[in-house]
Amino acid sequence: MTRVEIPFEKFSTPVFKSWGSDWFLLTSGSFKTGKFNTMTVAWGSFGVMWQKPFAMVVVRPSRHTYGFMEKFDTFTLCAFPSELKKVLSFCGVKSGKDVDKIKETGITPITSLKIEAPGFDEAELIIECRKNYSDDFRPKNFLDPAIEGNYPGKDYHRIYFGEIIAINGVKKYLDEK
Ligand SMILES: Cc1cc2nc3c(=O)[nH]c(=O)nc-3n(C[C@H](O)[C@H](O)[C@H](O)COP(=O)(O)O)c2cc1C
Repeated sequence: MTRVEIPFEKFSTPVFKSWGSDWFLLTSGSFKTGKFNTMTVAWGSFGVMWQKPFAMVVVRPSRHTYGFMEKFDTFTLCAFPSELKKVLSFCGVKSGKDVDKIKETGITPITSLKIEAPGFDEAELIIECRKNYSDDFRPKNFLDPAIEGNYPGKDYHRIYFGEIIAINGVKKYLDEK
C-alpha cells in the first residue's frame, strides 16, 4: 500500500464512520522483538488535548492486548480497505492468547516511522501514538445509568490517550484544501 506522511492538521477522516463502522486494528508491543498483539477497536476518538493531537482508545483488562498496552509506551491504529474487513472481524473475536492472528489473517507487520509498535503493510492508514494518559472508567461516575449495561462482567475499560506522533495514509486521508 502506498501511503504518504500526513501532518496531523491536514488529517481528515469521517470519524463516526471510521470508528463506528469501519473499525481499526489497535496494536501494541515491539516490532523489533516480534512481541506485539493486535485487536479490533470501534470505540475511541481523535482530538486535541494539552495542545497535542491525540487518539483515545479503551481496552478491557480481559483482552490479551491489555498486557501489551500496559507494558509498552506506544501503539498504532490501522484502518484497512473494505476488502479486508474480514481481518478486522477475525481480530475482534479471536484472542492472541489462543491464536496467532498475524499468521491466521496473513497481514504483514511493518516497522513504524517513529515508534516501537508495528503497523501493517495492507493498512491504508497508520496512526502512531505514544501513551500520555491512562485511567479506568469508574462506574460511580456513569451519569447515564444505561452505560452500566455494557459491563455485565464488571470489566470496565481502561482508557488510554496517546499523543499522535505520526500519521501515514493514502491520499483520501489528506485534506488538500
Ligand atoms: C467491531 C468490534 C469492536 C471492538 N472494540 C473494542 C474496543 O474498543 N475495546 C475493547 O476492549 N474490545 C473491543 N472489541 C473486542 C476485542 O477486539 C476482542 O475481544 C479481541 O478478541 C481481543 O483480542 P486480544 O485478546 O488478542 O486482545 C471489539 C470487537 C469488535 C468485533
